[in-house]
Amino acid sequence: MSFGRMPIANGFLPRERFANEYFFELAVAYCPHCRMVQLVDQPDREMMFNETYAFFSSTSSRMAQHFKEFAEYCRAKYLPAHNPFVVEIGSNDGIMLQHLARVGIRHLGIEPSANVAQVAREKGINTISSFFDEQVARRIVEEHGQADAFLGANVMCHIPYMHSVVEGIRILVKPGGIVMFEDPYLGDIVEKTSYDQIYDEHVFYFSVASISYLFEQHGMEVVDVRPQNVHGGSMRYVIAHKGMRPVTAAVAAQCAKETSWGLADASTYDRLREGIERSRSDLTNLLKDLKRQGKRVVGYAATSKSTTVTNYCGITPDLVEFISDTTPIKQGKFSPGVHIPVRPYEEFRARYPDYALLFGWNHAEEIFAKEQVFRAAGGKWIVYVPKVQVIS
Ligand code: SAH
Ligand code: TMP
Repeated sequence: MSFGRMPIANGFLPRERFANEYFFELAVAYCPHCRMVQLVDQPDREMMFNETYAFFSSTSSRMAQHFKEFAEYCRAKYLPAHNPFVVEIGSNDGIMLQHLARVGIRHLGIEPSANVAQVAREKGINTISSFFDEQVARRIVEEHGQADAFLGANVMCHIPYMHSVVEGIRILVKPGGIVMFEDPYLGDIVEKTSYDQIYDEHVFYFSVASISYLFEQHGMEVVDVRPQNVHGGSMRYVIAHKGMRPVTAAVAAQCAKETSWGLADASTYDRLREGIERSRSDLTNLLKDLKRQGKRVVGYAATSKSTTVTNYCGITPDLVEFISDTTPIKQGKFSPGVHIPVRPYEEFRARYPDYALLFGWNHAEEIFAKEQVFRAAGGKWIVYVPKVQVIS
């Protein structure tokens, strides 16, 4: 399926850069052989991950709590008592590693986006600015020895040269070590029609089937899977060198679910495409209707996901006045492609709109709890996952 011309999802830009904005064709496909759902084309990595990367993990307090739990789970369940060494890729501003660093665990973050890596270093987290791959893995082993745990969240699905990454993991992780990573889960995307998970950075949409197939080619196997209620539905994969750890019953159970949901049937993806097209017309009809009624609509949270929705649906500033966001680097800029102004959250609070279009639907719980006054003042929410609806 093609979503048409798309800009860089996190490429919030000033007006001066409109003329030179980069676009590519966002298209996604399913491979019946390896069971992977993936982008057909991805922009060069340096265009997405660089010293002006706009995504700072620690902006969400819910995610901060989530990663504290992730770190503690890893430590309690898998780290040996004696001098463990943990490597995390895509460690960003240190949202997860800080919990291991704090208790004196040997650690290393691999984070190519220099600005977020610097924030982590300032927190005392050992971080190198580099793209992880097989060569980097060899270098880490030479300098620090092998790792007891390899961690990653919302990063494995970002890296197109997957075989180099998995081979790197095989080299880096001790024979009895553990690999834990989580990413948005294909099962949730299909179930919820959450097509906004599809954008430049997310080259892969993993399932247990596709991850198992991939790691088995490198002598490793999935030993546990744990669904996570974050980012609209993620899956945590726990992986070890083949034969080194017992495989939990959850793995086969999840694979059976994937089969029953039709994740291996091409027709499932045809239905998904139809659902996406329906979602687009429902959302644009609603927004055009509200415009005719003279209502003010403001976007809530300038998420990377919103770039797919706004560009695919053609949501321009005449339909959505501005997007409110708490991230300083995004404020005062414009959203990629459709150029909706991004404004500080205080502007949302100072003059509530009639409707808030919830681009950060994956943070709905946190946001609804925070915004009770908006609702009490008559404000309504527009959500589009799992279907387009108004919540008042
Ligand atoms: N783990 C954090 C950040 C996810 S955003 C969280 O879940 O909130 C993805 C991060 O991966 C970005 O900070 C990006 O710079 C980084 N990244 C992208 N490609 C990478 C690679 N090849 N190796 C390591 N990190 C990478
Ligand atoms: P994400 O969905 O990719 O995690 O992006 C989160 C974005 O949403 C980030 O730019 C910060 C913004 N945000 C808000 O503006 N207000 C909020 O309450 C939350 C949770 C996020």
